[in-house]
Amino acid sequence: MSRPLTVAVVGATGAVGREMLSTLERRNFPATRIIPLASSRSAGTTVPYMGGELTVQELKDDSFNGVDLALFSAGGSTSLAFAPKAVAAGCTVVDNSSTWRMDPRCPLVVPEVNPQALQNHQGIIANPNCSTIQMVVALAPLHKAAGIRRVVVSTYQAVSGTGQKAIEELEMQVRQMFNLQEPEAKVYPYRIAFNCLPQIDVFLDNDYTKEEMKMTEETVKIMGDANIKVSATAVRVPVFYGHAESVNIEFSKPLSAKDARAILSSAPGVQVYDNPEIKLYPMPIEAAGEDEVFVGRIREDFTNPNTLNMWVVADNIRKGAALNAVQIAERLVAEDLVRVTNRKAFA
Ligand code: A2P
Repeated sequence: MSRPLTVAVVGATGAVGREMLSTLERRNFPATRIIPLASSRSAGTTVPYMGGELTVQELKDDSFNGVDLALFSAGGSTSLAFAPKAVAAGCTVVDNSSTWRMDPRCPLVVPEVNPQALQNHQGIIANPNCSTIQMVVALAPLHKAAGIRRVVVSTYQAVSGTGQKAIEELEMQVRQMFNLQEPEAKVYPYRIAFNCLPQIDVFLDNDYTKEEMKMTEETVKIMGDANIKVSATAVRVPVFYGHAESVNIEFSKPLSAKDARAILSSAPGVQVYDNPEIKLYPMPIEAAGEDEVFVGRIREDFTNPNTLNMWVVADNIRKGAALNAVQIAERLVAEDLVRVTNRKAFA
């Protein structure tokens, strides 16, 4: 049963928060009131919604009184501090940060893959990492058909995944270089314009980055199969919107490229763009601004049995973040799960 909902967007002035607002609007989300929240820096400014403007409020301890549902995209420390406060106020949280993703109390959900995980939520539902979301949307139907054993993935990730400041940094560096000025790098350790950075997030003890290990661990949690091994290399590239991934998948049973193409063609949330004869394959410039996960370059790996290669592209701000969060919220509404059964679950 749907009821009138008050919805807060935490981080409403950011790249993902703005997209959350426009996704709620675009998909006619059943909200009677939307409250945009951000830091004190943005309090009093406005964000566009439904042809008008909403005034941004400062996120405070009492911001969630009377709020039914909150979509968070304001960084890990904000989620850590405020998501439990929201739950204590009786508000259900869909959180886009990595803070709660591996917490056993929190379902980690991609609606096309594991919507059932929402059933026993305790107030905080985690939205997976952007690169993981688009990969599992494409992997899940193939896993069902032939059982995935191992995935080797390299990502080509857009700067918008880092946030608004990184979008501005790439723009600025391009301008500076065309004006023969020294480009300034503040967000990334090196210049991103006309460059590729094989580091996303910090390095861990095993020499993988945190972003790479997110893909390994989150894939297992979402797909619900601890036997799936994922080895990732995550690379930041000078693209504004749209992550691309080269994915090599080893199955326990044979699966032809033709069959994989047919399976993916009818999979939810997937569009197959795959015809080498007419140079048809997915690219960030076409995936940007779209909702689907695009898959192409599907081919059998002649170096290894039962193995396929494919190329997966999606808008990291849409399916990789805002859209997936709103789809989770839509499921919660459809299944009457916008409620907190235990306000002390994260106390
Ligand atoms: P603000 O614009 O006031 O800094 P992005 O990922 O694009 O950088 O956006 C981050 C979002 O998170 C922005 O809306 C930002 O608000 C918000 N944010 C960052 N830190 C805080 C905080 N401590 N409290 C509330 N919102 C925050």
